[in-house]
Amino acid sequence: MSGSDTIDNPERRNFLGKITTVAGVTGAAAACWPFVNSMNPSSDVLAKATTEVDLSNIPPGGEHSVAWQGKPVFVVHRTPEQIKNAESSNGSIDPEADSKRVLKPEWLVVVGICTHLGCVPNRDPEGGWLCPCHGSMYDASGRVIRGPAPKNLEVPTYSFVSDNKILIGKA
Ligand code: FES
Repeated sequence: MSGSDTIDNPERRNFLGKITTVAGVTGAAAACWPFVNSMNPSSDVLAKATTEVDLSNIPPGGEHSVAWQGKPVFVVHRTPEQIKNAESSNGSIDPEADSKRVLKPEWLVVVGICTHLGCVPNRDPEGGWLCPCHGSMYDASGRVIRGPAPKNLEVPTYSFVSDNKILIGKA
């Protein structure tokens, strides 16, 4: 085989061209990998992406506030009466059935940030919340029942990892 074989043989020339292209693309990908990999979230950031909550210390009627991704999340152990109230209507300003907002009726999990301008609402004796900034009210399902807040309290993604434990941030 001589150099002129390669030049004169179009099939061989194509083959060599493809090999060169594959090697070039692989090399470029390998060179870029450290940069691409550095853009992935670090393990400590991933760890904060979820928050585990032990429910066994929250009595009926009680609320536990936890931090999740820098936001307050209210975990509420609702009483039978609060469940009944929450299930008796769909709210009015941002209607939504209570059953769409909970995984289990006795547990309500909502982001504790008022949907008006972002204040943290206070718990009221009825099992809902009152925003101290401009007076918005939320019911025992976290649905807005008096403005100016336009939306219900957000329900974060969460799942039950056991009967007494939830993981916020992962379905
Ligand atoms: S921030 Fe809550 S009512 Fe305005």
